[in-house]
Amino acid sequence: MTDELFEKIESEKPLTAPDLRKILELESPADLDRLFKAAYAVKERVSGRKVFLRGIIEASNICVKDCYYCGIRKSSRNIPRFQLSATEIVDAAMWANTHRYGSIVIQGGERNDETFIKLIEDAVREIKEKSAGHLGITLSMGEQTPEVYRRWFDAGAHRYLLRIESSNPELYRKLHPSDHSHAARLKCLETLKSVGYQVGTGVMIGLPFQTIDDLVGDLLFFQKMDVDMIGMGPYLVSRDTPLAKEMPDFDAMKKHQLKLGLKMIAAARLLLKNVNIAATTALQALDPRGREQGLLAGANVIMPNLTAVQYRSSYQLYDNKPCLDENSEQCRFCLERRVQSIGESVAWDEWGDSLHFAARKI
Ligand code: 5AD
Ligand code: FES
Repeated sequence: MTDELFEKIESEKPLTAPDLRKILELESPADLDRLFKAAYAVKERVSGRKVFLRGIIEASNICVKDCYYCGIRKSSRNIPRFQLSATEIVDAAMWANTHRYGSIVIQGGERNDETFIKLIEDAVREIKEKSAGHLGITLSMGEQTPEVYRRWFDAGAHRYLLRIESSNPELYRKLHPSDHSHAARLKCLETLKSVGYQVGTGVMIGLPFQTIDDLVGDLLFFQKMDVDMIGMGPYLVSRDTPLAKEMPDFDAMKKHQLKLGLKMIAAARLLLKNVNIAATTALQALDPRGREQGLLAGANVIMPNLTAVQYRSSYQLYDNKPCLDENSEQCRFCLERRVQSIGESVAWDEWGDSLHFAARKI
């Protein structure tokens, strides 16, 4: 019964797999409202009524991977490929520093060649120096060797995001070519932790073939991996990818995808308490106020786009990505307004490390 469930949620008793399943199956507006409020209360306690920013620099859409869902996969023929120079990355980062963002994420397609590795290493080192250590640097560049993770860490990056995409290896197999390995990705997450990074992972929500129990498994995976940050978002169709045919009527699914994404955020907050959870851009692709809804369901991080407008349209992992024509200045202004609209404030100039990481280090 939902009364029992809410009693457990609101008194913050430990949640079991069946509880998580019930949470993800809640549907009535009254139940969802109660769920989001409970998750928000936990967020407010562990992180305050403020939002941490990670300015996101999309450094390159060149990718050696070929994930069936992704618009910039290796086999996508009709997109112009770009790679920012180290100087362009540093300039975007310094813009973020001047505008008091506190932290940045450098994200890109996966490349494993030395030219690329060195470019990122140099850019990170220069950002660290030029910002006098002020700017927190997160990387999200896929699977790399332990040596590369270490080089980038030594250069000054201190957080790394690597989504597991799904905790279920069977489902992972359906979404990727046979040479993409779930086990290798798991190993990378372990390596990142042992190198000393704050580690973030996440999944796509509402994927073809995915069940509610898969999502419950994802939440328990986050708990077991003891990660510091969660970046997850609804699956969105990218037209020319192999997975698109599995969801032919995506427009009719949008409300469902958004709701499921929000329920996952709330469930993650209730289960994991003191981690950082991002309200991702994918939520906004489904609803103009998607990210605000994410914050109200328990997220505490937003990642405004810092990519130069001329490159934005080439970095579309999915269709209808928002803010393609807005520049960094416009995104900054729009974001502050959105955050204020729900009675929160932006944590300007703060790194915003998760309390979870501080606890884990001891
Ligand atoms: N819909 C939603 N998220 C996607 N990603 C890639 N393609 C899609 C899509 N079609 C996500 C993956 C990846 C991250 C960079 O973007 O989870 O890890
Ligand atoms: Fe794997 Fe883009 S090719 S997420």
